[in-house]
Amino acid sequence: MKICYLPGDGIGPEIMAQALRVLDVFRKEGMKIELEQALLGGVAVDATGSPYPEASQKLARAADAVLLAAVGGPKWDTLPRPQRPERGLLGIRKDLGLFANLRPAVLYPELANASSLKPEIVSGLDIMIVRELTGDIYFGEPRGISVEDGKRIGRNTMIYSEDEIRRIGHVAFKAAQKRGKKVCSVDKINVLETTQLWRDVMIELSAEYPDIELSHMLVDNAAMQLVRNPKQFDVMVTGNMFGDILSDEASMLTGSIGMLPSASLDANNKGMYEPCHGSAPDIAGKNLANPLATILSVAMMMRYTFGNEAAAARIEAAAKKVLAAGYRTGDIYEPGTKKVSCSEMGDQVVAAL
Ligand code: NAD
Ligand code: IPM
Ligand code: MN
Repeated sequence: MKICYLPGDGIGPEIMAQALRVLDVFRKEGMKIELEQALLGGVAVDATGSPYPEASQKLARAADAVLLAAVGGPKWDTLPRPQRPERGLLGIRKDLGLFANLRPAVLYPELANASSLKPEIVSGLDIMIVRELTGDIYFGEPRGISVEDGKRIGRNTMIYSEDEIRRIGHVAFKAAQKRGKKVCSVDKINVLETTQLWRDVMIELSAEYPDIELSHMLVDNAAMQLVRNPKQFDVMVTGNMFGDILSDEASMLTGSIGMLPSASLDANNKGMYEPCHGSAPDIAGKNLANPLATILSVAMMMRYTFGNEAAAARIEAAAKKVLAAGYRTGDIYEPGTKKVSCSEMGDQVVAAL
């Protein structure tokens, strides 16, 4: 198991350290894990001038799986765009062909009170957001800021080909077959032609999945329904930008964005595993961050890339046990529970494992 890990910026190194301890438990038990560290994001810019330097490209391509903590921060926000940390992240996703981003929003029952919604609205919540990750307005050309007739114009292009839509659609339908047999495709067909094509292709594709119930929802309504009645959803499938926004929203249903893991997969289940949250500059370097999203991303790595369901389930059970025992980082803390630091949360997960 060749794993390339990218601690990145901000809280990245702190949460990565805890995820590596989890991998170490398995290694000590005899699992053959080879780890290689590489630079991505602001740290890579500082060291090499590039947010996704060649050495990292080589290691990431050679690995079976990549584990990423988070990149970005105010220090790099004024650099020219090609040198920004976020470009490194988009670059590695594109380079490795990671078009399918699975973001499971699952509420651990112990955190029903940490959610900003009423416990009865979120209890039992289990949604899988399938976000397309290498297309859409994130990558569309033309893009940029230009001057025309003495005025500045900002431009981005929302674009999807039918092949791109079809391959992410297959991922969503197949995911639903293993879950609640429902796919809700989220678009904006009342305004955007690109998403009309998205809906047309989803409908065509659904003929191949007679066992799955396909529905459609406009994205503004979907944002509202996620907080009104989130349990109506099983699998949600959507484009890169809508998926980015809706998954942060869904994270709050689970108590905190510090809880939401993700898998970014290519066509062969090679993957990069990354929490949905960012580098949290406001709490970086203070040992306060919640490492569970990153640790749960390791569980997804075991499941999707290494096909080791037992290891995945064991990590998830360990996280559950720690929450049941009352341990909470600040983001999910409530009176009556035990507040712990990032590394103490790691201690507890390792002990539970
Ligand atoms: P963010 O997700 O970093 O932080 C949003 C809020 O959530 C902050 O208050 C933060 O403290 C909190 N938070 C996030 N993760 C947490 C954790 N594990 N434990 C406890 N609290 C947590 O989003 P932002 O502030 O909009 O972005 C900060 C930087 O991160 C930006 O540079 C952005 O581009 C980058 N970013 C990177 C990724 C990534 O690497 N995958 C994802 C999102 C944002
Ligand atoms: C995420 C992040 C990234 C995205 C940024 C940092 C490029 O917000 O992984 O959700 O928009 O995809
Ligand atoms: Mn995001």
